Amino acid sequence: MERYNYGMVGLGVMGRNLLYNIADNGFSIAGFDLDKEKVKKLEEGATSEMKVKGTGTLEDFVSALETPRKIILMVPAGKPVDAVLESITPLLNSGDIVIDAGNSYFEDTNRRIADLASKNLHFMGMGVSGGEKGARTGPSIMPGGDVEAFHLLKPMLEAISAKVDQEACTAYMGKGSAGNYVKMVHNGIEYAIMQLISEAYDLLKRGAKLNNEQLYEVFRDWNNGDMNSFLIEITRDIFQQKDSLTDNYLVDQILDKAGAKGTGKWTSEQAMEIGVSIPTIDIAVTSRILSAYKDERIQASGLYSEKEITSPEDINIFIKEVGDALYLATLISYAQGLSLLVKASDEYHFEIPLKDVVKIWRGGCIIRSVLLEKFYSAYIRNPNLSNILLDKEISIIVKEKVNSLRKTAAFAALNGISSLGIQTALGYFDAYTTESLPVNLIQAQRDYFGAHTYQRIDREGVFHTSWESTNN
Ligand code: 6PG
Repeated sequence: MERYNYGMVGLGVMGRNLLYNIADNGFSIAGFDLDKEKVKKLEEGATSEMKVKGTGTLEDFVSALETPRKIILMVPAGKPVDAVLESITPLLNSGDIVIDAGNSYFEDTNRRIADLASKNLHFMGMGVSGGEKGARTGPSIMPGGDVEAFHLLKPMLEAISAKVDQEACTAYMGKGSAGNYVKMVHNGIEYAIMQLISEAYDLLKRGAKLNNEQLYEVFRDWNNGDMNSFLIEITRDIFQQKDSLTDNYLVDQILDKAGAKGTGKWTSEQAMEIGVSIPTIDIAVTSRILSAYKDERIQASGLYSEKEITSPEDINIFIKEVGDALYLATLISYAQGLSLLVKASDEYHFEIPLKDVVKIWRGGCIIRSVLLEKFYSAYIRNPNLSNILLDKEISIIVKEKVNSLRKTAAFAALNGISSLGIQTALGYFDAYTTESLPVNLIQAQRDYFGAHTYQRIDREGVFHTSWESTNN
């Protein structure tokens, strides 16, 4: 009986596309899904060169695989992963490998690693980014966990991932659940960049009164220059999409309530948990939450009536400034996310290679952009960089653009155009680059009302002052 190199559980669009990508690269692969229709369609959709098999039962699926079995799960995060593991693990043998390629929470992965290890099975968490198209043609792949298991998968992962300068957009992300953690932070950064782009759009639309054709041109020019990125590129294309139900552009027909599946929220929670400041990611998460309060926003806008907007004096200068502001705020968002990875690597003993993280994000994933080349160079110069804002070369770019960020933030504030992402990116930058913050006063207040003590700038030790006795 012919045995297949790989197995895929979950034949939804992502699973099916990833499976075909693996088959395209010369690996044989069997698929399983509870939905019989999806199993049936699998072989129908395969080309004659692909060695692909759809299986109707888990038993058939498992026995169709060569050993050690290498089984990829592409099912929704949470309970579905546990359900699959519960039914499949009794059918597996010592040494088999199960790879979870969904957006699973890293703590769940830790639990599953321990659980499967007790059965002599390997479990790996592996982030996959690039959406449906990426899965089919070359995603960015973030595997972590068992090193031996990783080496067995490596040739396949390198074959199916996106390539930048002939280098595969996949690498070992670290121990334990590092693969899921890196993907979670990738998504947190994704949230921040999407928030910032939406603010730039609003500033150009309401501030500079650009229509969709003009917005298309601005984003096209940005994408052709140093802001080239996947998210700028798709935004450009969104502005020219006509609606099929009306004569309008589709973007103008879409309700302004943003959805979220949870990875952004996890990133923020994690940053709070381990003490890292990532305000632009936090604000992106909470902005989506605020967007859902549509009825209240309508009520409030009636009560406070929107501010009249004073158009910028020179539209071309304004567009250039908004572009530079977006560029820098995006860079600052990456800086925040990467600084979270630095701390998490230490905290959870992941040993995340930051240089490889930015290297494999250069292609295939949703946050791919030319900016990542600059971060990659920065980590080559110093692999232990705690924050990319501390790199000399990066600081030159930042200094060039920071005035535009200030002007854009000021324009938005004066004209009542909400720009939470832009404001927090600037606020973070100003706080991070300030030698003496005013939190000496906060320490004094804490000590005043709660005897929480403070440290001094001129001598070692912990101090407390009896403030009230001096003041009364
Ligand atoms: C990717 C995407 C992918 C997915 C997000 C969307 O890297 O391919 O990030 O993982 O599109 O889960 O997340 P929200 O639904 O929370 O916006």
